[in-house]
Amino acid sequence: MCKPTYYDIEYEINPWMNKTIKAEHLKSSIQWNQLYDAIKHCDVEVELVESQKELPDMVFTANAGLVKDGRVLLSDFRYPERQGEKHYFKQWFIKAGYQLVDKSLDSTDLCFEGEGDALFSNNFLFVGYGIRSDKAYYENVKSLGVEEIIYCELVDPYFYHLDTCFCPLNETHGIWWPKAFTPNSQQIMQKQLQLFALPENEAKKFACNAVVIKETVIIPAGCPVTESHLKTLGYKVISCEMSEFIKAGGACKCLTLYI
Ligand code: ARG
Repeated sequence: MCKPTYYDIEYEINPWMNKTIKAEHLKSSIQWNQLYDAIKHCDVEVELVESQKELPDMVFTANAGLVKDGRVLLSDFRYPERQGEKHYFKQWFIKAGYQLVDKSLDSTDLCFEGEGDALFSNNFLFVGYGIRSDKAYYENVKSLGVEEIIYCELVDPYFYHLDTCFCPLNETHGIWWPKAFTPNSQQIMQKQLQLFALPENEAKKFACNAVVIKETVIIPAGCPVTESHLKTLGYKVISCEMSEFIKAGGACKCLTLYI
């Protein structure tokens, strides 16, 4: 995770962001701390990468890259506003002893926004493309040792990363906002998992942007239908207020990266 020290809405790279609607600094920091505590409460160790001035979105560490078994494929951000983050994430991974995976593909023009667009469910890797990450880029995830890739085409600019509209819970179940995907991708995804469609108002509160830690799911506050569905499946639910991060188009999951 990355503390929201320099977090704010300083540019607009998705439809949620409006430079005139700033994040309240104190509130952001309270909300981030609440999420941090909830994760620690699940007995998970959390490592921090230092926040950097002029990189306000660095708080969304999900976009740093994709990690598997001590190896990392670093992101290639679509927008120049976020490209400067790569250097700092890279330094962090090197220092922490992770092996940087070389891209198998000569893909200088292709983008990839890390775990924001790539989520594991068992041995399957669901990948989002069409808005931020490019489909062709995913050839590279094979170097990470990923065999089964499920391609999910995104169509709604409000749900621009896979983790904004889909969350695998375990090997069999997940939650999603189906309209964020093409009909063809919806079919493919449903073949892999039993998916519960969220009500639109909760999808728009980023209910899918959840952190799953064993039997606990941490979701943004204000999503009662999602909460009761998760409870029916046997999960313990912790909800965290995320209003300040939703202003940038992110919530619980975006603020974390599995390492
Ligand atoms: N403002 C950031 C962006 O548009 C938010 C990133 C949210 N991250 C995520 N994994 N969905 O890039």
